[in-house]
Amino acid sequence: MNNFLIAPSIIASDFTRLADEISAIESAGADWLHMDIMDGHFVPTITVGPLFVEACKRATKLPIDAHLMISNPDQYVEAFAKAGANHITVHVETCPDLPQTIKKIRSLGCNAGVTLNPATPASALDAALPLIDLVLVMSVKPGFSGQSFMPEMIVKVEEIRNKLNALRSKARLEVDGGITVETLPLMYRAGADVFVAGNAVFKHPQGAGAGIKALRDAVTRIKR
Ligand code: DX5
Ligand code: ZN
Repeated sequence: MNNFLIAPSIIASDFTRLADEISAIESAGADWLHMDIMDGHFVPTITVGPLFVEACKRATKLPIDAHLMISNPDQYVEAFAKAGANHITVHVETCPDLPQTIKKIRSLGCNAGVTLNPATPASALDAALPLIDLVLVMSVKPGFSGQSFMPEMIVKVEEIRNKLNALRSKARLEVDGGITVETLPLMYRAGADVFVAGNAVFKHPQGAGAGIKALRDAVTRIKR
């Protein structure tokens, strides 16, 4: 069984108990802390910015996985790097010169990730694939947590996994949106190895720790 990572999405947590929520996922074995940065322009919602990333950074040793759903990310990647993001993922739809943006993220000492909306074909990543550390496949339309998983994205993960294998790339293949104990195994089988989960972790009836355990067990139960 391949090594896989769980990245709880902090925007689904209770912000009035932020430090407790972070320590619950950390002690339950979360691998990365995923942060959904939304600007009210590229997506309709506004969430959090570098100040929030910096506060979370002080509360955890987990790598911070910043997913920028913002227009003009080139203007802001430095602020997120300074705030403590370890991985910075940008949308192909927002980058007129993607190789240049990737170079900039790496020059700031961060891992560079690229993501694409459900409607954007996998081929939009072709030029970037040899250059990046992380591909993120959105399995919902970005903008909100708590949406239903789009099963059409399974073949997109398979397609990108094949492209990464052909390049002998060691890049992580992350999926985000509607990941649950039912949908995680589908994406795992398709070749994903990092799983973002908002509601499945933070809204689990027995708490965030139980949510992480349930997701891990869902993979342990299946065979590839
Ligand atoms: C959607 C976000 C997701 C979302 C995940 O725009 O990028 O990270 O918060 O939440 P769930 O797992 O609840 O779909
Ligand atoms: Zn996300």
